[in-house]
Amino acid sequence: RKRIVSGVQPTGSVHLGNYLGAIKNWITLQNTYETLFFIVDLHAITLPYEPKQLSEATRSTAAIYLACGVDTSKSSVFVQSHVRAHAELMWLLSAVTPIGWLNKMIQFKEKSRKAGDENVGAGLLTYPVLMASDILLYQSDFVPVGADQKQHMELTRELAERVNYLYGGRKWKKMGGRGGSIFKVPEPLIPPAGARVMSLTDGLSKMSKSDPSDQSRINLLDPKDVIKNKIKRCKTDSLPGLEFDNPDRPECNNLLSVYQLVTGKSKEEVARECHDMNWGTFKSLLTDALINHLHPIQVRYEEIMSDSAYLDDVLLDGATKAADIADATLNNVYQAMGFLRR
Ligand code: TYM
Repeated sequence: RKRIVSGVQPTGSVHLGNYLGAIKNWITLQNTYETLFFIVDLHAITLPYEPKQLSEATRSTAAIYLACGVDTSKSSVFVQSHVRAHAELMWLLSAVTPIGWLNKMIQFKEKSRKAGDENVGAGLLTYPVLMASDILLYQSDFVPVGADQKQHMELTRELAERVNYLYGGRKWKKMGGRGGSIFKVPEPLIPPAGARVMSLTDGLSKMSKSDPSDQSRINLLDPKDVIKNKIKRCKTDSLPGLEFDNPDRPECNNLLSVYQLVTGKSKEEVARECHDMNWGTFKSLLTDALINHLHPIQVRYEEIMSDSAYLDDVLLDGATKAADIADATLNNVYQAMGFLRR
């Protein structure tokens, strides 16, 4: 079976963008593929953070995966730092990653500009190398992510090819080694709708955990009245009717897409249904659709969070299974790179 991995950072709260761009798609994919989903806590320390909040956010994010429908009989769920191979492979890969590749990462440029020089640690620059390790360790075929991870995926692919070229294939065979490729070159799976959910307060910037205004996003755990209020106050326009794909109406396109995804209707159906609608009518429809979709997730979340032994078991089991796969790859890489093994 083809294998899939993906993860979310335990920073801030999981929002509708993370859900529609990534997590919701995992739920469908786990029926067809071998799936591993991790909480990337090692990534979460690349910007200033509160140590006390990290472990709480890590548990909470794991519980959200399960509440959204990640099924532990089909998928392994684990915490990135619990599988040591991630950090170890990252060191090996960082030695062969050209700094130029890292310097041109858009997310690095944006995050470092916002953080200011004093707060830019080396980890913010090497962040994509850790992400590549997360993926390559599992010989993954596909990685379901939102559109903002496209460039990181491209780097992951290039890095896999570079290691295969430098240490795999012919060169390695001549030294009496196993030969063949060391890493599988993975492909991103970016959904046709929901890949880029936009801010509620500005249809031109993406919904993000780091936006200082909580009004800009719907968090998966937002109570009903908060959702209602955010939709009531979100940015709209004053043109008649509602439509997809009009570049002058980014907010309209975004809200219709969200409505489409949380109701499970087709784009054509939504386009027809909302064509002659005014904002007031649509906002109350959207509010109800969001609440109906998120409420069951919130109920399950509370159940899961109330049984900490269960969550511990899930994470331990997930890490054990993941480490088996990851260690095999890591050993192979050490060997291919010429290390003396004990
Ligand atoms: P993170 O935590 O920023 O986001 C988690 C997932 O949510 C997607 N996403 C969005 N999708 C649609 N619209 C949005 N507004 C939106 N905002 C975020 C992201 O694309 C992502 O899929 N580097 C990754 C975490 C990571 C990872 C990995 C992912 C680390 N290692 C290995 C896959 C495989 C990140 O920062 O995601």
